[in-house]
Amino acid sequence: MKDIHLGSGLLKNCGDIIGAAHKPCRAAIVTDYTVGAIYVTTVADSLKAAGFEPLIFAFEAGEQSKNFETYEKIVNFLADSEITRSDIAVASGGGVVGDLTGFAAATYMRGIDYVQLPTTLLSMVDSSVGGKTGIDLEAGKNLCGAFRKPLCVISDTDTLDTLEDKYFGDGLAEIIKYAMLGNEKIMELLSERIASDNMRDALKPVMDELVAESVKTKLSFVEEDFLDNGRRKYLNFGHTIGHAVEHASRYAVHHGAAVAIGMCAMARAGEKLGYTEAGTAAALEELVRACALPTDTIISPDDLENSALSDKKRRGSEIDLIFPTKPGHCELVTLPVSDLHNILCLGVK
Ligand SMILES: NC(=O)c1ccc[n+]([C@@H]2O[C@H](COP(=O)([O-])OP(=O)(O)OC[C@H]3O[C@@H](n4cnc5c(N)ncnc54)[C@H](O)[C@@H]3O)[C@@H](O)[C@H]2O)c1
Ligand SMILES: [Zn+2]
Repeated sequence: MKDIHLGSGLLKNCGDIIGAAHKPCRAAIVTDYTVGAIYVTTVADSLKAAGFEPLIFAFEAGEQSKNFETYEKIVNFLADSEITRSDIAVASGGGVVGDLTGFAAATYMRGIDYVQLPTTLLSMVDSSVGGKTGIDLEAGKNLCGAFRKPLCVISDTDTLDTLEDKYFGDGLAEIIKYAMLGNEKIMELLSERIASDNMRDALKPVMDELVAESVKTKLSFVEEDFLDNGRRKYLNFGHTIGHAVEHASRYAVHHGAAVAIGMCAMARAGEKLGYTEAGTAAALEELVRACALPTDTIISPDDLENSALSDKKRRGSEIDLIFPTKPGHCELVTLPVSDLHNILCLGVK
């Protein structure tokens, strides 16, 4: 975790923090218009004060920008700015900015250093950690990318104050996932606040700890399996059905909401199939509801199955699924793809 910096007010010192990891150089800041309007001046000023030469590129916010067109604009911007291999790229924004900037950094001149300054809860607890970068293709999300670790990650938790609730929920669902995968501290921090009227407000005083614990859990799954062949698969808990819900709803259901539905569905199906201790689904549903996330979908198992079968994580005739065995413990089960329909029927009410 030494290259992951986390806390309140860090953005205005990002230049010094980056300066400790890289000598002053040109720094190509990549951001989206929404984040850029709020934070890019702070980032650029801090870099300048630390001796860097900041250059700024911004694009339209949102997943629809995570494509070849924006990638091409970013690498052309790097070339036009005469960025060399001794310079750096700086991703200032959520997961879309991070994935695009990381992919541009991984490929431009066969790889330059980059830094992540995540500004969404999801990017702090998930996408900025682990070194996966990439863009979407017509054929599906994240189908083109590279593994490249950032030089450092600087998460200023104050930036979360300006984030919309629906995006906050995306991060919260991943945090619940880490609790279900075994982080007892996160389970405790969430459970203590389960009766609060507004989970987001209730979590504010412990946000730094929550993000730090989340990063620790993600790293524990990633570090042993950088190329995503084994233990990292546990991080897909809730995601096979979650992606299907996102896809089948044409992305009307947000990622976090979809993953919450996916985790609850796996717990309900797991109980009926004997993988999961009785009461696990009810406990998870209570947590999910307390976080203002949904526990179920009205999309039919048939529609979900069609969407799930286009998931790139499915290999051949078998599918790897993560079932909770009890709150705080999950198991990977490899099943014939033909079992998925039954699981959806059992898991989706
Ligand atoms: N690389 C990985 O390992 C990994 C892991 C999980 C998700 N992802 C990717 O991450 C992306 C989703 O990331 P995301 O949820 O951060 O979405 P995002 O980057 O689209 O950000 C969500 C929205 O919030 C706005 N925003 C960001 N920070 C803000 C702030 N502090 N204040 C106000 N508005 C702010 C953005 O402009 C955007 O409109 C997806 O493309 C997903 O595939 C990657
Ligand atoms: Zn996710």
